Amino acid sequence: MNRKGMILAVVMVMLLMGAVLSGCGKSADTNTVKIGLLNEMTGGNATFGTSSANGAKMAFKEANAKGGVLGKQIVAVIADNKSEPSEAANAMTKLAMQDGVVAVTGGFASSNAIAASSVAESAKVPFLVVGATNPKVTVDDKTKKVKDYTFRVCFIDPFQGTVGANFVLNTLKLKKAAIMVDSSSDYSKGLAAFFREAFVKGGGAIVAEEAYLQKDQDFKSVLTKLKSMNAEVLYVPGYYEEVGKIVKQAREMGINAPVVGGDGWDSPKLVEIGGAASLNNTYFTNHYSVEDNSPASKAFVDAYKKEYGQTPDALAVLGYDAANLLIDAIKRANSLDKAKIQAALAATKAFPAITGATTLNATHDAVKSAVIIEMKDGKQIYKATVKP
Ligand code: PHE
Repeated sequence: MNRKGMILAVVMVMLLMGAVLSGCGKSADTNTVKIGLLNEMTGGNATFGTSSANGAKMAFKEANAKGGVLGKQIVAVIADNKSEPSEAANAMTKLAMQDGVVAVTGGFASSNAIAASSVAESAKVPFLVVGATNPKVTVDDKTKKVKDYTFRVCFIDPFQGTVGANFVLNTLKLKKAAIMVDSSSDYSKGLAAFFREAFVKGGGAIVAEEAYLQKDQDFKSVLTKLKSMNAEVLYVPGYYEEVGKIVKQAREMGINAPVVGGDGWDSPKLVEIGGAASLNNTYFTNHYSVEDNSPASKAFVDAYKKEYGQTPDALAVLGYDAANLLIDAIKRANSLDKAKIQAALAATKAFPAITGATTLNATHDAVKSAVIIEMKDGKQIYKATVKP
């Protein structure tokens, strides 16, 4: 063989090897489906992401035991957004561009979900949000258009804020409220505004509104200002890290008025940070109560306790619901094509989720009931369910 022939032979062998290798790769790929789990695994909202990922992993495990989806085993690709919007965008880019996932689902504080959804939209990857409740998650704030590829399995804050306001007016029967808003969070700013609107409409008055930032430690100067306004109730639509400290410091300062908030309170850490006694006489709106005694809910709570050794919070059950809804959408799409999965998600009707039958409406949001929880001696006590 001459030199030219040698080179040709080597190239041929290399090409052949390449073909065999990529063939192997493909045949492995055809047996699995990759789904991204993008969550707050670390940082200030870490319990949200951990719970949501646990719920989703349980759903995938159950589905895989029954043969997976479209005959393929589901592989979860875990990504951490570190509780930061910029990290959420980076993590979504990696899932979409490098990992080759067919869809993404995840926990989520609203600001992180908004950042991740812009990437999902440009990459055209279906993104099923678990718990972010701000309207801007599914509707673009600038164009006011519904985002094609972003959906969620939870209710939104215009509803949650109204439920909170009506609870204060009609159940606690209080009319003078002060608000403390986390101005670094889209969730907190939105929920405060929706609460205010409904509260004033219902005949209440907002006597003061003060701001704080995520990661703040000392709330006493803000609380001193609020104390002098003699509000009958304090509305704090924040996240558990800061809410725990706010309630603790308020009680230390002799502010004994009821404190009311939203789903951002829901974390096993709330009591650890705030203390059981300080949290007495506080209430929050949420997606789910473990006291829901429907058979499906009971079965889920038992299975979750067995798997993780703890009681599920709202994000665990919503994470489980989102993963199951996504699997159902892939089955209905009968394809791993992202545009087809998007269309199937948009067509979701009465999906039997643990948090209630889930229909995704024109703005890609779920319309479902909220529950009101009272904190009593460190325990969450179910008070009421409010239908949309
Ligand atoms: N709703 C919160 C947000 O939008 C996130 C959250 C959901 C927190 C569910 C707790 C439980 O930021």
